[in-house]
Amino acid sequence: MAAASQDGGKPLWGSIVRTVYLNGSYVAEGDATVSIFDRGLMFADAVYEVCSVLDRRIIDKQAHLARLERSLAEMAIAHDVAATGWDDILATLIERNHLIEGTIYIQISRGAADRDFLFPAPGTPPTVFAFTQARSLVANPMADRGMRIITRPDRRWGRRDIKTVQLLYASMMKMEAKAAGVDDVWLVDGDVITEGTSQNACIITRQGHLVTRDLGHHILPGVTRLSLIEIAHKSGITVEERRFTIAEAQGAAEAFVTSASLFVMPVVEIDGLKVGDGLPGIETMALRSAYIEQACGPK
Ligand code: PDD
Repeated sequence: MAAASQDGGKPLWGSIVRTVYLNGSYVAEGDATVSIFDRGLMFADAVYEVCSVLDRRIIDKQAHLARLERSLAEMAIAHDVAATGWDDILATLIERNHLIEGTIYIQISRGAADRDFLFPAPGTPPTVFAFTQARSLVANPMADRGMRIITRPDRRWGRRDIKTVQLLYASMMKMEAKAAGVDDVWLVDGDVITEGTSQNACIITRQGHLVTRDLGHHILPGVTRLSLIEIAHKSGITVEERRFTIAEAQGAAEAFVTSASLFVMPVVEIDGLKVGDGLPGIETMALRSAYIEQACGPK
């Protein structure tokens, strides 16, 4: 039976009624509604962030807010991240939803206006919301067995560096992975890997170098990727930010992905070929532990 909540109403998807943030107010999830004219709905004219929460604390919060600011600027969506007080909003959502481990989703659209390809007049208020999702992140069984990946052509738009809600192709590719009985898809331009559907792709060469795609318009500048590069530098691991092919990844010593919700997750198979010995890599698992340790570090 669904548990009652102090916020009232019925749970929408889970067993509790969450409190969500919408346009300056905290409301029960079932009461959070937006206009059918919202440009986020009609044009995918919105940007988003996903941050993870461990032990009630947000991991890499400032880097996520900085990327949000960048996405907004690239899309010319008028929302002042600093003036909005996101630190307080996120802390309130964690507290009100008793979130210990999980994710927080933030979305900002250009707002509601009569349907027109042209952007609405300046002054149209953006639609701003955020919600929590309780889930187990550290004890993810996939970390023990590793991910099996297939590759597919990268047919997304050309500004993948902006974190927009235009996620239909990624969603379709995840369905294709599911139908193929594997865990996810790495997207490729020709035979060069760009990134995963919702993660950055990395390999460890037989020389022990960490290789991940260089930044540009072709991939999202992952916050986890950046933190991990810093950890790798501190651990004395050579990092190469460059292109790498499917064949190089298949022949690598280890492979893994990085994202806010998966942290560092081993990849053990690419297009039916085992990576290394087909088990989660030792270096990968050491980097996963180091990342989690850093995230849970001194309060
Ligand atoms: N996805 N590349 C893409 C295309 C992504 O969507 C993501 C994140 C990443 C990793 O970025 P970060 O380390 O900052 O999470 C790379 C999030 C988790 C999502 O859409 O749910």
